[in-house]
Amino acid sequence: MKKYYFITGASRGIGEAIAYQLLSPENRLFCLSRSENTSLVEAAREHGCELSYHQVDLSRPFDILELVPLWLSQVELETAESICLIHNAGVLTPVGRVGGEDRTEAIVESHHVNFMSPVLLTERFAEWTQEWGLPKQVLMISSGAARKPKAAWSSYCSTKAALEMFAACMAEEQASQAHPIRVVSLAPGVVDTAMQDYIRSQDAANMPGVERFVQLKEQGQLWSPTFVAKKIIELLQSPTFGEEVVADLRG
Ligand SMILES: NC(=O)c1ccc[n+]([C@@H]2O[C@H](COP(=O)([O-])OP(=O)(O)OC[C@H]3O[C@@H](n4cnc5c(N)ncnc54)[C@H](OP(=O)(O)O)[C@@H]3O)[C@@H](O)[C@H]2O)c1
Repeated sequence: MKKYYFITGASRGIGEAIAYQLLSPENRLFCLSRSENTSLVEAAREHGCELSYHQVDLSRPFDILELVPLWLSQVELETAESICLIHNAGVLTPVGRVGGEDRTEAIVESHHVNFMSPVLLTERFAEWTQEWGLPKQVLMISSGAARKPKAAWSSYCSTKAALEMFAACMAEEQASQAHPIRVVSLAPGVVDTAMQDYIRSQDAANMPGVERFVQLKEQGQLWSPTFVAKKIIELLQSPTFGEEVVADLRG
């Protein structure tokens, strides 16, 4: 029996940590990001885990659609135990005040990576798998920022909020399906990744409140990607996955 996982943004940070912890002969992994994670590919080989890595730019949402049939046609239904789609890739940029400077391209990129690509990918996933009788999960890695407005973060907050609402609507629909897909939108807490490095590199004039993130780092209060990945996998394996659609790892 095989568990199938599709993970976006597996080149570093939380996505990479999830992928590493899933390396096992019982799992089949499909990973993507713009840059290939060659260490992960090598580690998969060593663990006897079948993993394919796809270099895809989620800021080009139609590109992802070509990958869906490639991925799902490889699922062997007779031996498939479960299937899970993890939307983890995300960008914080652009930061700064609305109308402050020309950020047109970065705004479009943010909407495509954080919202449009996950939506289109989920659409196709549901279309393909709706009648499959095995356990199916969609996990959106959201953010506390989806639920709380922050100055300078308008693109990030709004795209994360939009995806969270998409997840909540889908969960409502799935409740009446014969073979429901369970959906969760999960805020992972504040995690020690490149995204936090970027936040701390900003000055307070461009990003009010940045001091709090500097302080959290100095006080050792950031969670490690490894710890967060472990909690995420526990959630994926929990029989209660999906009961709380909008969830937070911080409880
Ligand atoms: N770190 C935190 O404190 C925190 C807090 C709340 C929520 N989150 C959320 O957690 C998720 C992971 O964040 P992280 O902190 O691990 O971030 P990260 O270290 O910056 O990693 C982001 C991942 O997304 C991928 N990605 C970015 N743009 C992409 C694109 N255009 N196409 C394909 N892949 C792309 C990156 O790969 P490439 O650059 O190789 O493409 C990378 O693998 C994000 O959704 C983020 O919003 C993080």
